[in-house]
Amino acid sequence: MKSGGFFVSCIIHNNFVYNTSVHSVRERWRMASVFPVGRIVEPPDLVDRSEFVGELRQRLLDGQSLMIAGPRRIGKSSLAREVLRQVREAGAYTAKVDLFYVTSVEEFASKFLQSILENRVGVIAQATRAMEGVRKLLSRAEIRAKLHDLELGITLGNRDADPLELLETAVMTAERLAARDGRRMVVLLDEFQEIDRLGGEPLLKRLRALFQEQSHTVYLFLGSQTTLMQTIFADRRQAFYRFAAMMVMPPIPENAWRDYVFKRFMENGMRLTETGFRLLYERTGGHPYCMMAVAYNALVYANLQGLQHVTADVMDFAYEQALSQLQAIYDVQWQELHRFKHADAVLMALVNGTRPYTLPLSRSQVAQGLEYLMRLSVIERGEGRGEYKLVEPMFGEWLKRKQEL
Ligand SMILES: Nc1ncnc2c1ncn2[C@@H]1O[C@H](COP(=O)(O)OP(=O)(O)O)[C@@H](O)[C@H]1O
Ligand SMILES: [Mg+2]
Repeated sequence: MKSGGFFVSCIIHNNFVYNTSVHSVRERWRMASVFPVGRIVEPPDLVDRSEFVGELRQRLLDGQSLMIAGPRRIGKSSLAREVLRQVREAGAYTAKVDLFYVTSVEEFASKFLQSILENRVGVIAQATRAMEGVRKLLSRAEIRAKLHDLELGITLGNRDADPLELLETAVMTAERLAARDGRRMVVLLDEFQEIDRLGGEPLLKRLRALFQEQSHTVYLFLGSQTTLMQTIFADRRQAFYRFAAMMVMPPIPENAWRDYVFKRFMENGMRLTETGFRLLYERTGGHPYCMMAVAYNALVYANLQGLQHVTADVMDFAYEQALSQLQAIYDVQWQELHRFKHADAVLMALVNGTRPYTLPLSRSQVAQGLEYLMRLSVIERGEGRGEYKLVEPMFGEWLKRKQEL
């Protein structure tokens, strides 16, 4: 079979079919995105989350802060965006910061503050990473007029202000703004485990002390390193103990995927076969990102070949393509594992179906390897006692093939 080659891999990352050479292949190709991969998904592509979104929305509007920890690429950010959209619709103010890309406390403060102020001044086109940029923004007369009652001048006016003080100002501004305008403020802090890298315990303590005093502002914390998040929120010694209710992301049921995938192919003039679907669901283990990536490749391939039936063969081809596109992500993930003692060896044993405790390692070394893998959200506990399974079966398959090379 001929591979989709360069342009298939270039569109998979953007997911908007803007390449005219692709577009002209088939008129029926929808200009909207189909099977969005690797970016925020919105309804109606957000499969099976409406009930959970509704619950989160309600709890936040009721004033409860929440925390969701779960592996990468299972749909936390997409879910949270929809929650934010809905609470906004209900009249709340919202703000969000993704800490993954934040490199300093000052940058955190500056991004946070801008996001808060947007509720009053409208979208700030070029968000700035430095507080200096925020100061410039605030020096504009029309902006100042909209924010005159927020007492922003004191700390921000001081160019030598400590970054922590700036962050404090941001946090307090969220509350002040919400109180002044009689709104609830919902703040999304994505990849919150990064707080550890930015400032460790002292930063956490400071934040917690501030958060606790707020009555209008609630927080939705997301994190992709499950154990670290659990330590931050559940460990008594930690500052965030009991601050937020831990919510568990429910897996997407097979039937919800089935309805969605069959429907999408149908809308594109193709019929997915039952064995095609089985292959898709079983090989990806129903992992959201992988499901979407494989389905998308199948759609592109069937479309280019003018196929009307998406069979198991087509899906198998799409699976291989998706696996090679995941190479870059999995390479990094594997490299990261080497930094954690015994994590790589223990994972290889699991991938090969050998019991980790039969490895030439001590029991405590194996236990440590397992613990790291859990902490990195690469594995999770299986049904039986002492059983573990890979969060992303395609990562396992990739590893298996790597070791055979
Ligand atoms: N509910 C869902 N329905 C459909 N696809 C999803 C869903 N959740 C996640 N995905 C897929 O996974 C990708 C990653 O989602 P994202 O929200 O960024 O996850 P996370 O924040 O957990 O890393 C999305 O681009 C999409 O392809
Ligand atoms: Mg995310």
